[in-house]
Amino acid sequence: MRKILVTGALGQIGCELVPALRQHFGADQVIASDIRMAHSSRTSSNTGAPSADGDYEYLDCTQTQHLQDIVRLHDVGTIYHLAALLSAVAEEKPQFAWSLNMGGLYNVLEAARRNGCAVFFPSSIGAFGPTTPRDHTPQVTIQRPTTMYGVAKVSGELMSDYYALRFGVDSRGLRLPGLISNTAPPGGGTTDYAVDIFYQAVRYRHYACFLRPDTRLDMMYMPDAIRAMMELMQAEPSGLHHRNAYNVTAMSIAPEELAGQIRKHIPEFIIDYEVDPVRQAIADSWPRSVDDQAAHADWNWAPKYDLETMTEDMITKVRQKLNKENLHAP
Ligand code: SER
Repeated sequence: MRKILVTGALGQIGCELVPALRQHFGADQVIASDIRMAHSSRTSSNTGAPSADGDYEYLDCTQTQHLQDIVRLHDVGTIYHLAALLSAVAEEKPQFAWSLNMGGLYNVLEAARRNGCAVFFPSSIGAFGPTTPRDHTPQVTIQRPTTMYGVAKVSGELMSDYYALRFGVDSRGLRLPGLISNTAPPGGGTTDYAVDIFYQAVRYRHYACFLRPDTRLDMMYMPDAIRAMMELMQAEPSGLHHRNAYNVTAMSIAPEELAGQIRKHIPEFIIDYEVDPVRQAIADSWPRSVDDQAAHADWNWAPKYDLETMTEDMITKVRQKLNKENLHAP
């Protein structure tokens, strides 16, 4: 089997995708890479992920030659390209966001074309904009995003389709919703509140949310997202009618609903609101709920976690994690 390269492996998704891929395909089959240095060249234990050993490479995806060299050196056959800035931080530095999010993907697609690799590209609900129908957003619809993050995601979807059509690159993608997880924190996203809220609720019984109470957005628990990526990449290509990229979702929720669910486990939990106008404007330009029927139909996509089961599992895991950290505190 040719190897799997994961870029952005130390990020929120990568920390959970790398161990899942290593468990499925074997530790030596998966090369983790990131622009941050891992503590040791053979271990992923510094990521906070289960410490399944495997190769690690320092990689800046904007460096074309370095990326090509790593793909050739390890005989990579599949690239999960996760390295990118999230929406809010991309608005702070739009020029850099374009060069990393779009330039990095272009380099990955080029390396894939030259070396016959398959590519996974995470698009996002951010690929939609204020003129998109906001409820039950169809698979094929208007995509005129107003953020640099979204502009790069739509361009990435188009570029990935182009490489599939023109050069036969087996590129596949998901329009991921906000991802809720407890291994590594997200950084600079608009949906990050749905992760922060759990840590603050367990630690302080209080959370000041940067989105309005009724801001409804699609979300998914990380185990479902990891499974979705792996299932899509293993799906029979002839059944894929959309490739880049499939709408997927597990729940459509607002901060006040998530707070209500958390209160079932932590009754004294209080949420209040300190709205960040930048992130609120981004959220208001995104769908409230997407229609993921195409993913159901083409590769049998179905989430396992809903709001209730995700909340229960998150609270258990965050409690365990914080207890462990307290035990190890000096
Ligand atoms: N979770 C991402 C963000 O908030 C959206 O895909 O930026």
